Amino acid sequence: MNAFEYKNKLLYVEDVSLQELAEVYGTPCYVYSKAMIESNYRAYERALSQWPARICYAVKANSNLAVLNLLAKLGAGFDIVSIGELERVIRAGGDVKKVVFSGVAKRSDEIRRALVLGIDCFNIESTAELQRLDAITKEMDIRSNVSLRVNPDVDATTHPYISTGLKENKFGVDINDALEIYQKIAACSHLDAVGVDCHIGSQLLDLSPFQSCFEKVFKLVDQLLDAGIQLKHVDVGGGLGIRYEDGEQPPSMQQYAEVLAPFMAGRDLEVFIEPGRSIVGNAGVLLTRVEHIKNTADKNFALVDAAMNDLMRPSLYSAWHDITAVEQTDNKKTSYDVVGPVCETGDFLGKGRELDIQEGSLLVIHDAGAYGFAMSSNYNTRLRAAEILVDGDEVHIIRMRETFDQLLANEIIPD
Ligand code: LLP
Repeated sequence: MNAFEYKNKLLYVEDVSLQELAEVYGTPCYVYSKAMIESNYRAYERALSQWPARICYAVKANSNLAVLNLLAKLGAGFDIVSIGELERVIRAGGDVKKVVFSGVAKRSDEIRRALVLGIDCFNIESTAELQRLDAITKEMDIRSNVSLRVNPDVDATTHPYISTGLKENKFGVDINDALEIYQKIAACSHLDAVGVDCHIGSQLLDLSPFQSCFEKVFKLVDQLLDAGIQLKHVDVGGGLGIRYEDGEQPPSMQQYAEVLAPFMAGRDLEVFIEPGRSIVGNAGVLLTRVEHIKNTADKNFALVDAAMNDLMRPSLYSAWHDITAVEQTDNKKTSYDVVGPVCETGDFLGKGRELDIQEGSLLVIHDAGAYGFAMSSNYNTRLRAAEILVDGDEVHIIRMRETFDQLLANEIIPD
């Protein structure tokens, strides 16, 4: 499905016109489609239905309470990387018993709180973390499930900043050391080794790195069985990419499951998966208005009211997001660099985009539902954008635009 479509030359999200949303709620704002999030979630559910499976949505991709609440109602578990994310999950009505806690440097206070709240499983990333968890569980006398995140040394062939499964990356333990670490876990009085975990990177458009990763991880599962260690689940991480640019063809959830199938055959294991981007990425857009058109000798700039602080991905990863005008015309298009008001040359949302626009036109930055608002900041003392969730013809404001009072509330001028 696609929830963002032109009707009578105006862009709609489900049954609501984006022009109307801009008029009522102002710009910049993030707009999400409930139906699209649901459809992405259901596609995972269908693809994995042949096994016992838990979809642990990666909260970091989009952590708005309404989005988490929607996924909780659909039955999702959650992959968290901080205690803040766990507090969100709980406030959104998520089930703590379906939470896995990932991350390379969990603080002791975070571990304690997660134990008290009763999460399902810690994805341990080092022996140092194991020692810390062992000590804390003994001291608090609370048992906990653990899964070991292994680093399979597989090249995800994605942007280097979001590639995580190579030996040189900070994530997980060397898969060759895993057996020894599982033996250490077996000796910890309050820990139960229930799973193995991996996550090789994000925005993967090719299935072969997943295949290589599964080969190594399931070989380890067999080695563990030989050593008398029977796991209950394999956590395959997240990472499935989405289409940002024409020509990109991300594999479907079904195709992903087909790669996993031979490895799962005949095993008494539950699959955990930690998708973020592929659940919310194409379900959201950033809506922005053109403040000025500036034509120079070299270039035409569309100066818009959204900036790198609202959507960092283009500046940080040179990421491409489609940009279209909310109003379609038959006029000739001109090439524009779409840039924000922030005082940096790196503040761009897209370069060389063919558009027919003028001052006041509305633009949509597509596929911004994942790692959009979640990575936004207040740089240049810009208020963070509003967020809106559309459900058919119903509009829900799910985050009010920030106010200056909120922004400055924690700052103190000493006497
Ligand atoms: N599990 C773990 C342990 C992760 O570190 C991540 C993402 C995920 C799951 C979810 O991956 P996904 O399905 O969303 O690819 N800010 C970057 C992406 C960073 C991803 C970090 N880890 C971007 O905007 O592209």
